[in-house]
Amino acid sequence: MKKNNILISPSILAADFAKLGQEIVAVDKAGADWIHIDIMDGHFVPNLTLGPEVVSSLRQYTKKLFDVHLMTMPANNWLEPFAKAGADIITIHLEAESNVKESLKIIKGLGLKAGLSIKPSTSENTLKKYIEYCDLILVMTVNPGFGSQKFMTTQLEKIRNIKNMQKRLDINIDIEVDGGVNKETSKLCLEAGANVLVAGSAIFSEDAKNYSNLINSLRNHN
Ligand code: DX5
Ligand code: ZN
Repeated sequence: MKKNNILISPSILAADFAKLGQEIVAVDKAGADWIHIDIMDGHFVPNLTLGPEVVSSLRQYTKKLFDVHLMTMPANNWLEPFAKAGADIITIHLEAESNVKESLKIIKGLGLKAGLSIKPSTSENTLKKYIEYCDLILVMTVNPGFGSQKFMTTQLEKIRNIKNMQKRLDINIDIEVDGGVNKETSKLCLEAGANVLVAGSAIFSEDAKNYSNLINSLRNHN
């Protein structure tokens, strides 16, 4: 059963890169809400993934929202290329731009949802200046750069504090969690106040016929 207030965004970083189109079709059919696409530049993070041309070529495989997580420094020069490639949400890192407010405005000006992410070492207090310009806050529960890392439970308090910030300000934003999210840690994230869960290895490391069960196991906890 699908709980409609919880959104699952499979991270294709853990998918089979030789058949990305088919992998996207498979998670779409299995009940994914969004498709999480990690863009790494080998500079902001010590890993390199893919560029706008690849995103553009994947656009034909699903109508689900493309949730683009930009781990590039700077971020601004990539906003328009990824918007043109078919992104629906672009999330930038607070640590990667000096004028974050301006970047968020550019994303919205391109007609997209604007997200802001912080690394585990960055305090949630830094978000206060920007939260009203955001549609989404992405809390990293691993150090960005690689999949299959261990979930940092120290970040749960951060999720709770952001949820309280949202309630206090009475604003409508998504709180997304990324890194080490699996059947067990997803429950902790939801309890802390998150409503969007990114999961890479917890979904794509198994056979495609299990994607639906795996996605459901992130949403439903008995
Ligand atoms: C890490 C990426 C994540 C990653 C998550 O920098 O932002 O989206 O793919 O992978 P798992 O779910 O395996 O931790
Ligand atoms: Zn990500």
